[in-house]
Amino acid sequence: MLIHSASQLICLRGGAQRGAHLGELDIIPDGAVLLQGDTITQVGTSADLLRRFPHETRLDAHQQVVMPGFVDPHTHLIWAGDRADEFTQRLEGKSYMEIMAAGGGINATVRATRQASSSDLKAATSSRARAALRHGTTTLEAKSGYALDIPGEERLLEIIMELDSELPLDIIPTYLGAHAIPPEFSGHTQDYVDLLVEIALPQLKTWWQQRYTKQPLPFVDVFCEPTVFNLQHSHTILSTAKSLDYPLKMHVDEFENIGGAALAAELGASSADHLVKISTADIQKLAATPTVAVALPCTPFGLAENLYTPAREIIANDGLLALASDLNPGTAWCGNMQFVIALACRYMKMTPAQALAAATINAAAAVSRQDKVGSLEPGKQADLLILNVPDYRHLGYRFGENLVQIVIKKGKVIDFS
Ligand code: NIG
Ligand code: FE
Repeated sequence: MLIHSASQLICLRGGAQRGAHLGELDIIPDGAVLLQGDTITQVGTSADLLRRFPHETRLDAHQQVVMPGFVDPHTHLIWAGDRADEFTQRLEGKSYMEIMAAGGGINATVRATRQASSSDLKAATSSRARAALRHGTTTLEAKSGYALDIPGEERLLEIIMELDSELPLDIIPTYLGAHAIPPEFSGHTQDYVDLLVEIALPQLKTWWQQRYTKQPLPFVDVFCEPTVFNLQHSHTILSTAKSLDYPLKMHVDEFENIGGAALAAELGASSADHLVKISTADIQKLAATPTVAVALPCTPFGLAENLYTPAREIIANDGLLALASDLNPGTAWCGNMQFVIALACRYMKMTPAQALAAATINAAAAVSRQDKVGSLEPGKQADLLILNVPDYRHLGYRFGENLVQIVIKKGKVIDFS
């Protein structure tokens, strides 16, 4: 298929974009892209490709932007129930951590998820994944973390992997057994950490390798906060995961800075996520490594807080910055990367060009998939969006409606009817 006459073909060739390079969109005006099977084989001007490939099926993108599909590198896609009651409590003045300490928060969703049947859980998760796809997300990371016991976490990962093979989007799994202290370990955090490192992580590796022989191990992630998993707990869990060859991710500096970002850098995590409270020293430590800084602006917005990840400081210090949704039932029930971009522009003062690159090629780097997705270049997977706007800056500028007209996944136009 030859997609041609795009007002702007946003290529983003050349890999992840660090520091001042963020936002180099590599635009071809009146651009065209040739897809063969599930792969991009040519990008260029319409005049050139129409002349060289006269017999291809054509798709006219006149007055429209053609860009790579969004990569959402941080979601908690799989859960049951909702926490609408907690939203009201927060508006009345209770904090997220107060609600969590009283047994609500993540553990409220753990209770609902443990009770849900696999078919209900799968249906709810599938519907959220399809909504994200409809809004342009063609690759998405999905964390477990709402079962917390070993068989329950395996069930969540199993459903994630089923949806990865059944739905027309790529889902990248993460094991987040260290999301909260489960109710049966309340007051005994160290015992739960011991269980994770002595039993859960080794057992999950064996289970995974028997079941998913061709798939790399999932990421292992930890919610690093003083009242959840402190720095010592996080270090114990992640260094064990690393010695078992799991790739790493971390939730750090969401509510308090206890040095989690420096730990992510030291352990060579693929990404350090949230970073609302990150210090200048830690921004510099992260920037000196390949660890991607992932900002999640839906989270402070969802919590009605005023502080956002200091994107400009991360960029000024030559950091590698990506954007993600954090889709979850507690802080941010939103899997729409267009809305993430709109927030990043307003509250993190990113330009639409920077936000677009952070939501595609840099987001791909945050899940170690930058060789496969996140840009339009020959050899990459044919995951593309056609936006019904003539200029990419409408992303960010406009919000609250879906600007994605057509989603193409692995070379096929998705039918949403
Ligand atoms: O990234 N912080 C931990 N995890 C989520 C919230 C999950 C929840 O509240 O259910 C987050 O914000
Ligand atoms: Fe999260």
